[in-house]
Amino acid sequence: MQIYVFLGAPGAGKGTAAARIANDADIHHVSTGAMLRDAVKNGTPAGLSAKKYMDKGTLVPDQVLVDMLGELLSTSKKDATIILDGFPRNENQALQLDELAAKHGATVKAAIDIEAPNELLISRLGGRRVCPSCGMGYHVTNMPPKREGVCDKCGTALITRNDDKPETIKKRLEVYAEQTAPLIGLYKKAGKLRTVNGADEADKVAKKIAAIIKG
Ligand code: AP5
Repeated sequence: MQIYVFLGAPGAGKGTAAARIANDADIHHVSTGAMLRDAVKNGTPAGLSAKKYMDKGTLVPDQVLVDMLGELLSTSKKDATIILDGFPRNENQALQLDELAAKHGATVKAAIDIEAPNELLISRLGGRRVCPSCGMGYHVTNMPPKREGVCDKCGTALITRNDDKPETIKKRLEVYAEQTAPLIGLYKKAGKLRTVNGADEADKVAKKIAAIIKG
């Protein structure tokens, strides 16, 4: 099992790039944010405990995510290639990922940091719309759906994510700077860091990352 970690601030384009790459190849896109949103929607115990953190823009306790990821890796095919979008998000989670990988015969091949300036992140998150049914992401000006407010893929009415309010965006960016950005140095030290310019056009970002994964 080969794991590619996607680093990058909220709005850098991790989910957008991962969805494009996974669409074109036999690669599994695992978004911990999407897993948590599903858990909230389904009212599971993990979802009920995660909601208050997500609504505030802070990190959900590590063990909730470690349990989810452990379960996922234990049921993944041994030859799978996995994009981990949103995990790890702090040093403890990075250590736990190494332990889980060792336990399940997986290797963390690279950490891909998608870089973008703060003002771009804020305008992307403020204009983001998502499909609550299939998870497809849009942006009101950058990537509008063909019919305003309606998902191209499944026809469901698009929504704004709960945590895309200005005050929550600010908090998420602070949490990223304090807790997740230090992982860039950690993966650099391990010789696993690759950096991509997230301000580029979405197809270009996805192509650059796909080339890194192909090797
Ligand atoms: P999560 O869902 O992971 O959110 P995030 O990291 O804040 O990332 P985003 O989904 O906001 O950004 P993205 O980089 O994927 O951007 P996107 O591609 O959508 O986590 C949500 C919450 O869950 C966390 O706050 C936390 O509470 C909890 N959580 C999750 N994982 C956790 C963990 N491991 N530990 C603890 N808690 C955890 O793009 C954004 C917008 O920009 C879109 O509108 C898109 O259309 C547009 N766009 C993207 N790329 C481009 C481009 N190249 N050009 C133009 N527009 C673009």
